[in-house]
Amino acid sequence: MLATRGTISVKRLSPHVGGEISGVDLTKPVSDEQIAEIKAALIEHGVIFFRDQPMDLETQVKFGRRFGDLHIHSGMKGLDDKYPEVRPIHADADSKHVAGEDWHTDLSCDPIPPMGSILHIYELPPLGGDTCWASMYAAYDALSPRMRAHLEGMTATHDGRIAFGRFNPAGTYPISVHPVVAKHPDTGRKLLYVNRGFTSHINDVSPEESAALLNYLYAHLEKPHFHVRFVWQKHSVAFWDNRCTQHLAVWDYFPQVRNGYRVQIEGTEPPIPA
Ligand code: SIN
Repeated sequence: MLATRGTISVKRLSPHVGGEISGVDLTKPVSDEQIAEIKAALIEHGVIFFRDQPMDLETQVKFGRRFGDLHIHSGMKGLDDKYPEVRPIHADADSKHVAGEDWHTDLSCDPIPPMGSILHIYELPPLGGDTCWASMYAAYDALSPRMRAHLEGMTATHDGRIAFGRFNPAGTYPISVHPVVAKHPDTGRKLLYVNRGFTSHINDVSPEESAALLNYLYAHLEKPHFHVRFVWQKHSVAFWDNRCTQHLAVWDYFPQVRNGYRVQIEGTEPPIPA
């Protein structure tokens, strides 16, 4: 399904999440009008994709800044002193882990997690290396009314050690408490806000009940019904709204090489209780 939004077109890629944008060249300065159209498409689709955008780092950083300040990662080092806000995404035959190999919301351990991320993949394995995104609106909507009522008002702890402690167990990482059901600041829609990558436990119940609830919720939100799976090409770009989606980088291409650069846009407020 193709919809025109001002100067850009958006092809819906699944019923709940994901749209592919055409009609914009990210390697050149993008007009304010197109930035507004891209932002509206992001809010509507949760994640948007662009093809054939061989941007250099400076262009990617400048594009990211059009949507807000860029986030400096609380758990991992940036590229270098010139680009501390750029995170290289890299896998090869020596990799023991890759970024995002479990379902997660980026940095939900932060008091104010990033609003979104922009990832440019410039080198790909011959096959594989797709990324999946899940709509947390759709996951919430598909819960039974009784389960929704049970979860509303609960909070969960999100602990950076779960994601980053294995790289440096001696490091210190943020820990934050967020609502289990949150409300998107722009759309006002309710969404499920727990993730395997960072959530350690639900605060309002016993450890046993928390583990049972989280296991149920992860099995629920990881159902393909709420997902889009993106098959990258060289110089594809993905831009996701981190406030209402989770994602998973599929590492099915070991020992092949995959390379990209990611920037994250600062959030403006903590997740809002529904
Ligand atoms: C991530 O940001 O979690 C990595 C996604 C990817 O490499 O596709």
